[in-house]
Amino acid sequence: MRLDVITIFPEYLEPLNVSLVGKARARGQLDVRVHDLRAWAHDRHHTVDDTPYGGGPGMVMKPEPWGEALDAVLASSAPPADAGDAAAGGSGPVIVVPTPSGRPFTQELAVELAAKPWLVFTPARYEGIDRRVVEEYAERADVREVSIGDYVLAGGEAPVLVMVEAIARLLPGVLGNAESHRDDSFAPGAMADLLEGPVYTKPPEWRGRGVPDVLVSGHHGRIARWRRDEALRRTAGHRPDLIARCDPAAFDKHDRATLHSLGWSAGSDGRFGPPGQAVEE
Ligand code: ADE
Repeated sequence: MRLDVITIFPEYLEPLNVSLVGKARARGQLDVRVHDLRAWAHDRHHTVDDTPYGGGPGMVMKPEPWGEALDAVLASSAPPADAGDAAAGGSGPVIVVPTPSGRPFTQELAVELAAKPWLVFTPARYEGIDRRVVEEYAERADVREVSIGDYVLAGGEAPVLVMVEAIARLLPGVLGNAESHRDDSFAPGAMADLLEGPVYTKPPEWRGRGVPDVLVSGHHGRIARWRRDEALRRTAGHRPDLIARCDPAAFDKHDRATLHSLGWSAGSDGRFGPPGQAVEE
């Protein structure tokens, strides 16, 4: 997979040389290219921002440097021939624009983007990029405006690091153990829509604290059941919205008993509601 990042702070992307992503780069599984946007700003001060039309606080990123930068990156050598199959939507890049006003970045979107051969990230500073840039490139590429959460950061570089890590760990051969993301919280499949429960490792006792007996029982069925109960418990506590929107058919008899023990009850549509929420008749 090829990744391009266009930024006014190339050094902010240094963490892409470290750990999982760094190793994937070293192995040639990821071709990461970080570009300094100011290389395409031609005045003496390499200006990339200006005051907003209509007034208001802050500055807006000028369209010309972004246009030149994107033209140059898009025109640069295509990704490997085998990378652009039909399922991946052709060999053109997906342009990912981090912005707090984008669609939410989810595990589902990470999985979709991990199947693409080429991603171009355009992290902005200030109040964002002149709107005409997204409009222009949406005519010739797949442009996604994406938010990593309901909070406002000072720029899109940290969101790029977040998204690249979520995507890179899904690439074949990057994590080492293909099973590792099967049980991820938010992974499609067995533990769908439940958060992962707690995990333990050696020593068997630490500061007077043991590990749950069931985990050392060797009983695979009981261990799986315990993990599922812990996932239900943690999800009910931290993300009750995920339980409430679960298809009730996804819960077996034991799940229901666990949810009941946590004070949850099924409404008339079968969906579970949290303790204290009126159950419809
Ligand atoms: N830029 C600033 N805040 C952001 C957010 N929450 N997601 C993506 N890009 C951003």
